[in-house]
Amino acid sequence: MASDKKNLPRVIAVTSGKGGVGKTNIVGNLAVSLSRMGWRVVIVDADVGLANIDIIFNLRPEYNIRHVIRSEKTLSQVMVESDHGIKILPGGSGFADLTQLNDGEKLNLLSEFEGLSDQADIIFVDTGAGISSNVLYFNAACDECIVIATREPTSITDAYAMMKVMSREYGTRHFKLIVNMVDSDTEAKKVYASLSGALDKFLKNVVLEYVGCIPFDKQLQQAVQKRGLIMDTAPDSLSAKALDEIAKTVGNSPARTDFNGSLTFFMQKAFQAAT
Ligand SMILES: Nc1ncnc2c1ncn2[C@@H]1O[C@H](COP(=O)(O)OP(=O)(O)OP(=O)(O)O)[C@@H](O)[C@H]1O
Ligand SMILES: [Mg+2]
Repeated sequence: MASDKKNLPRVIAVTSGKGGVGKTNIVGNLAVSLSRMGWRVVIVDADVGLANIDIIFNLRPEYNIRHVIRSEKTLSQVMVESDHGIKILPGGSGFADLTQLNDGEKLNLLSEFEGLSDQADIIFVDTGAGISSNVLYFNAACDECIVIATREPTSITDAYAMMKVMSREYGTRHFKLIVNMVDSDTEAKKVYASLSGALDKFLKNVVLEYVGCIPFDKQLQQAVQKRGLIMDTAPDSLSAKALDEIAKTVGNSPARTDFNGSLTFFMQKAFQAAT
C-alpha cells in the first residue's frame, strides 16, 4: 500500500513522438490502477492539441491552466476529480507556449504547482504528440519519461527521434518503454530490441528500460467510444490486466534520487527548458 509513502511526488511524462499510439489511454488507465493500489494520482493534461484526458474520464472541466496563469482561478479550482479520486488538471491551450508567459504569470504557476506536492504521490503528464518544443519542455521537466511505441515502423522511428532530441538538447539519459497494441510479448520485445539496438549504436549513453506491453484490444476501443476506461468497463480484459501489471511496475519502481522532486522545481525546469 502507498499510505506510508511520504515522499514528494514522482512526476512522470508519457510521450511518444507519433500521435495516436495510446498515451492518453495509458495515462488514464494506469492512473486508475495505481489509485486502486492506494497511490494518490494527479494527471496534468499538457496536450495542447485536442486535449482529451477529460473525455475518457467523462468529465467536462469548466476551467483550465490558462485561468491559473491569469490568476482568475487557483489550481484547485481548475482541477477536476474523477469518481476514482484522480485529480486532473486540464491544460486547454494554456500550456501552448511557456515562453510567452511574463514573470508574474510564471510566478503564479510556480506557487500554484507547489501546492500540488502534498496532494499526490504520482503525477502523470500526458504530453500530446510530436516533438514540438512544448512537448520537449515537459519531458525535460519531469523526473521520468515513459515512451509509448507500437510495432508500426513510423511509431518506432518517432520514438527514437524523441529520445534522440531529448538526449541531445536536454541531456536525458534514461527512458522507459511501453509497447502498445501488440499481438504478443514477442512482438513487443522486437520493438524494444530495435529501439535499444539503435540507441546502442548511435546514442551510447542513453538507457531504455522495458516496462511492459499492452495487447491490441477492441474492448479498449469500445470503452473510448463510450467516453470510458477499460479499467472500468472490462477490468478482466487482456489489456486491463496488462495495464495493471504495468501499473505495479511503475508504482514499485524506486523514485530517482537525482532530482529535487518539488513541483516548483518541475515548473522551473519547464521554464528553463523554454528559454
Ligand atoms: N491497446 C489498444 N488496443 C486497441 N486500440 C487501442 C489501444 N490503445 C489505444 N487504442 C486506440 O487508439 C486510439 C488513440 O489512443 P489515445 O488517444 O490514447 O492515443 P494518444 O497517443 O493519446 O493520441 P494523441 O497523440 O492524439 O494524443 C484510442 O482511441 C483507441 O481507439
Ligand atoms: Mg492523447
